[in-house]
Amino acid sequence: MANEQQTEFWSGSGGEYWVVNQQQMDTMLKPLGDAALAHIDLASVQHLLDIGCGTGSTTLDIAARLSDGARVTGADLSVPMTDYARSRVTETGVKNAEFITCDLQLDPFEPAIFDAAFSRFGVMFFDAPVAGFKNIRAALKPGAPLAFVCWQTPSENLWHSLAVATAKKFIEMPSAPEPRAPGPFAFAETEYVTSILEDAGFSDIVMTPHEQTVELFSGQDVRSAAENFARINPIISAFVTEAGEDKAEPLIAALAETLAPHHKDGALHFPSATWLVSAKA
Ligand SMILES: C[S@@+](CC[C@H](N)C(=O)[O-])C[C@H]1O[C@@H](n2cnc3c(N)ncnc32)[C@H](O)[C@@H]1O
Repeated sequence: MANEQQTEFWSGSGGEYWVVNQQQMDTMLKPLGDAALAHIDLASVQHLLDIGCGTGSTTLDIAARLSDGARVTGADLSVPMTDYARSRVTETGVKNAEFITCDLQLDPFEPAIFDAAFSRFGVMFFDAPVAGFKNIRAALKPGAPLAFVCWQTPSENLWHSLAVATAKKFIEMPSAPEPRAPGPFAFAETEYVTSILEDAGFSDIVMTPHEQTVELFSGQDVRSAAENFARINPIISAFVTEAGEDKAEPLIAALAETLAPHHKDGALHFPSATWLVSAKA
C-alpha cells in the first residue's frame, strides 16, 4: 500500500501528538508558514488547497484572510487530525473552510478546481513525490500559484538534532534515514525538490532559504519543556513510554541540561533553516 508507514504514523501516535500539542506546534511553525504564504496573493484567490493541513490552523487562518466569497479546503491523510480540524470549524462557525481526509498522492480532486495551493510542512511525506505533485497540479488551474515551506537539513535545525544527539547517549537510535526518504527532512536538497516539481509539470520554481528563530513550549520551565521535547521524536517518545518515568529519568535530565542554554523568557528558542518554495501549475 502507498504511504503505509506515513498513514500509520499520522493516523496513530504522530497524529494524536499533534492534536494534543496543536498550540505548541503552531507557536513554533506559524512564522514559517506565514513566510511561505506571503508568496500567494490571497486577495485574488477564490479556492485554495491547504496540502497536509493537519489540525487545520493554517486553513482556518487562511479562511479568515480570504476575500468575501472565497474559500479554502484543507486536505490531510490523518484521521485524528482532520477530525479535530472539523471540530474547530463547528466550534468557530467558520463558513468558508472545509476539511477532507485523503491521501493527496493518490486521491484525485475534480480537475482544475483550485486557483492556489499552500502547505506548511505537509508535502515531504509522499513515497512517490512526483505522483503526489502531479495529482496536486491536476487539481490546480493552469498558472495557479503553489507555495510551501519545508525544512533544510537536520544539522541546520538544532531543535531536531540536539534531541537526537542527547538521546544517543542513552538509547539506540536508528541510523539517520536516507536523505530523501519520506519524512520531515526529505526536501532538504534544492536539486531534488526542483526536479520533483519540474517532473510534475510545475514551472517558475523558486526556492528561497529562510532562517528564523523559532519558539517552542512557551510558558514551560526547562524541565517540562524537556519532557515534552522528548515526545517530538517518535523513537525517543516510544522509549519514554515503554521504559517508564524512572528508567527514562537520566535521559530527560540530560535533555533538560542540553536545553537549558536555549531556554529564556519561559520558552525554548532555536535557530531554524527552511526553504520557502514557490511555483506555478
Ligand atoms: C508536519 S505535519 C504538518 C501539519 C500542518 N500543515 C501544520 O503545519 O500544522 C505533516 C502533515 O502532512 C500530512 N500528510 C502526510 N502525508 C500525506 C499525504 N500523502 N496526503 C495528505 N496529507 C499527508 C500528515 O498527516 C500531517 O498532518
